Order: sequence, then structure tokens, then C-alpha cells
Amino acid sequence: MTMTDDTTPDFAEADVLVVGSGVAGCAAALSAAREGAEVLVVTKAERPEQTTSHWAQGGVATTRSDPEAFERDIIEASADTADPEAVDTLVSDAREAVEDVLVETLDVPFDRAEDGDGGNGGDGSDFDYTREAAHSEPRILHVNASTGKHVLGPFLNHLDDHERVTVRADTAALDLITHEGRVHGAIVEQDGERESVFAGATVLATGGIGALYRNSTNPETATGDGIAMAALAGADVEDMAYIQFHPTAYAGEDPFLVSEAVRGEGALLRNAEDERFMPDYHEEAELGPRDVVARAVADERERTGGVYLDVSPLDFESEFPDLAEKCEERGVDWESGIPVEPSEHFLCGGISVDDRGRTDLDRLFAVGECARTGVHGANRLASTSLLEGLVWGLRAGESAAGFDPERVEAPDLLDRDPDLPAGFAREKFVRLRRVMDENVGLRRTPEGLQRATAVLRRLKGEVDAYTRTRTSRSLYELRNASVVALLVARQAMEADPVGCHALEDVTSDEGDADEVPANASD
Ligand code: SIN
Repeated sequence: MTMTDDTTPDFAEADVLVVGSGVAGCAAALSAAREGAEVLVVTKAERPEQTTSHWAQGGVATTRSDPEAFERDIIEASADTADPEAVDTLVSDAREAVEDVLVETLDVPFDRAEDGDGGNGGDGSDFDYTREAAHSEPRILHVNASTGKHVLGPFLNHLDDHERVTVRADTAALDLITHEGRVHGAIVEQDGERESVFAGATVLATGGIGALYRNSTNPETATGDGIAMAALAGADVEDMAYIQFHPTAYAGEDPFLVSEAVRGEGALLRNAEDERFMPDYHEEAELGPRDVVARAVADERERTGGVYLDVSPLDFESEFPDLAEKCEERGVDWESGIPVEPSEHFLCGGISVDDRGRTDLDRLFAVGECARTGVHGANRLASTSLLEGLVWGLRAGESAAGFDPERVEAPDLLDRDPDLPAGFAREKFVRLRRVMDENVGLRRTPEGLQRATAVLRRLKGEVDAYTRTRTSRSLYELRNASVVALLVARQAMEADPVGCHALEDVTSDEGDADEVPANASD
């Protein structure tokens, strides 16, 4: 790989350019490098904490003795909308991918069963498999309830030491470089400096879209960059209406996810009147489908003024020490219950890809949350996202290797003015989030979606007026968020109301999403 030097300040080359450094991006980089490719990973994250994978709590579901049961659970959780072939790919590859990469290469310290009985299911290993909602057996590998960081930390360290991989942190991809229908890399920005990266193949692994909502379990870097860049380059983007809201994020300052695994171990949901309400909403009660539980939590909060997670049925502190610590840091007395509310969590749709992560643009791949593989359909089974990122990352990286970079004419972004009016990006983001929260969140109506689409179209027009002549990371993040928000709202108007996309039958809601007080802040 030729990296930038003093005489060629405006470009770099790589066999494979990976955009994003969550588990999917790391897996793509690893497998491309194993194929002999020189790999450049660019990531907006300055620290692992700025990737959604780091925040993942529950774990990595894997295939144990009964692959058919795993497939059935994924398809049932998706309300029969998942693509059976994609599900079969995931389940067939799961065990080898987990053993090869997570266990043997990275030595992830998954929890082990104490009784030596083969990990509560007797499959010969001593892993302490746990269970979450809609799983018919314990099959989730975990490191207490902070699995993501225990996978991602070793993964990034491994790549840092890899001779064929270079990771550039705090570096944003602004736009793809395309020429005659083929993708040749991306324009990137680091510390205000822009350059073209020409690549034989480009893998988008930019994660989800949490930054489009006020409350999200994603980091604020999740502005949907890969989806927007791919859509603007002409790639197909599907299933954007299907956004999962997690039922139990801490409802207070500095929110954090309270893993479904806590309910899996027996925690109960109670409303402000101290009533356990989930049995009235679903036969599986607290372990019902995530969208059902999230809507029930929203309803009960509205009806009674609050919902909390009662952890008294379990030994919370010893089973979930990281969560107990998070509570203590925020002054939450978990013994009296943890206040919770739904929060944006995972996008089931994204850039359409095949079983190797190939998009419909030549030499462009997408993996992880920004990709739509078909595994999740309209709703995702818990703890399948790290696995999907791993499996598709490995497949895409392998297929992306073997193409030579070619220097073509790149978009004219390098020398543009970066300046924006003071507060421009912040003010637009506040408006965008408000529109999304009010109309394109957990609760949606046809009228609200229509209103949101009109407002978002205007907002995108205001942003586009600047992207014609100016370029900066914050402007492009805003552009990406506005492109993706509009895709979500538009597709939600057309999508089947199933899984995580439900339409309420309200004909007289009269809110005006475009009315934002001048002093609105986030
Ligand atoms: C959780 O730990 O509750 C999240 C797991 C997931 O979303 O897969």
C-alpha cells in the first residue's frame, strides 16, 4: 500500500478500503488481509467507545447442537419476514466464525460455566451460554453484560499488530469515488485535511443510525454515513422502516442500555404503580418480542408516569457487575429498581447485499448494521448483530480482496470551503431528531410519516444548498443523516406494518413537527 507522503499530499491507495471499525469492519479487514490484501481501515472513532459494537451488551448467539432451532427462532422473531437463505448462511457459518476468530484468534474471555457441565447444555464446551427473548435455548456467548467491548478491544489490538492492516482513527469518509458504475474508494477527512483514497474494493461498515434520534443505544457518531453514501451513489437500500427500539435503556441523565439478558435472568418490569404489567401484553411477558415489550413500556410510562426494572429476583450485582457499576456511577439505587424507557437500538434494513456482502455497485461491499442481508427481515432476534457482522464481514473481506486500486477522477471536494454559519449543523440536527422522534419513532401514524417526509425534504434541501459549495465532516454527517432520515420516513409510508414497524390508527393527531422553538437544544 502506498500511503500519503510529502510529494503526493492528496491521495492514498489500498487494495481494500474498509470504512468503519466495529466488529463487521474489523472482520472484513482481517479476512481481506488473510487473503493477502493491503487493507486501510478508516474510522470516525477516536476510541473503541465510539463504535456501536463496543456498546453491545448481550452477546454473540451461536450455533450449538440444533441449528434448525436457531434458524426457526430467527425467522419467528422476524415475524416470518427474514430471508431463509440468509438465515441459513448465518447459522451455517456461525460456529466456525466464532471459534476461529473470537475464540482462537482473539481469545475473547467469554464467561465459562462454573459447574463444568458443558455450559448448561452439554455440547462439550464449558461456555456459560445465556438466553435472551425469543431464543428457544441458551446459545449466547457473553462476557457478563459487556460483550461488545471484550470482543472489539482484542480485535482492534490484533489489527493494530497486523502487518497488512493500517487503521486510521478520527477519519471520516465523506463520499465515494465512483467512475463508470464502479466504486474506486472514498474521499476522507482527518483533522480538517481531505484526501482521496483509491481502493481496489471498498467495504462500508459504518454501523447504524442512532444519531437520528434523541435517545439511542448507539454512540453519536452513528449518522448513517455508509447508507447515505451508497444511496447517493445509486446502490439499493431496503427495509429502512424496520428500526428496533430497545425496551430498557436507563431513563435518566447519561443513559445506557440495560441488557435484555437481565430480563433473561429473571428481572421484571413494573410501572409507577408497582404493578407487573407484561403478562397483560404478551404470553412470554418480559421475554416477549422486543417491539411488543418496547411499546408496552412506552404505554405504561405514559399511563402511570414511569417504568422500572425490578432486579430483586436475581443476584444483580454479581451477575451484572458492569451494569451495577453504571447504576452506581449515576446514583441509581438499583435495589429499588432501575428506571427504564425505550431507545432506538438497531436498524434491520440498510444497503442491500448478497451472501458475500456485495452491493449492486461494482466493488462496493457493505457489512454490519449498515447492510441489509435479509437475516433480520422486519425484526431482529437478540444477540444476532455481532454474529451477523462477524460472518458477513469475513465473507465480504474475502471477496473484496484481489482487486487493484485504480486512480480515477475523484469528486471535487478536496479544496472546498469548510466554513458553515455558526450553529448550522447543530440546529439542523435538533430539528431532524425532533421530527424523527415525534413521527418516525416507536409510534407512527400515516399522517405523521407524511408530515415528517415533507419536513425532512425541506431540511435536506437546506443542507444540500451548502454541500454544493462547501465540505466539512460536520456538514457531510448532517447531509448523511438527512438522506437517511428521508429514506426511513419514505420507506415507512410504503412498508408492510409488521415487526418493528407498526402504524397506529390515529386520524386526528395535530402536532407540527416543523415547529421548533428558537432555543431548542439537545
Ligand atoms: C441487549 O443486550 O439487550 C441487546 C442485545 C441485542 O440487541 O442483540
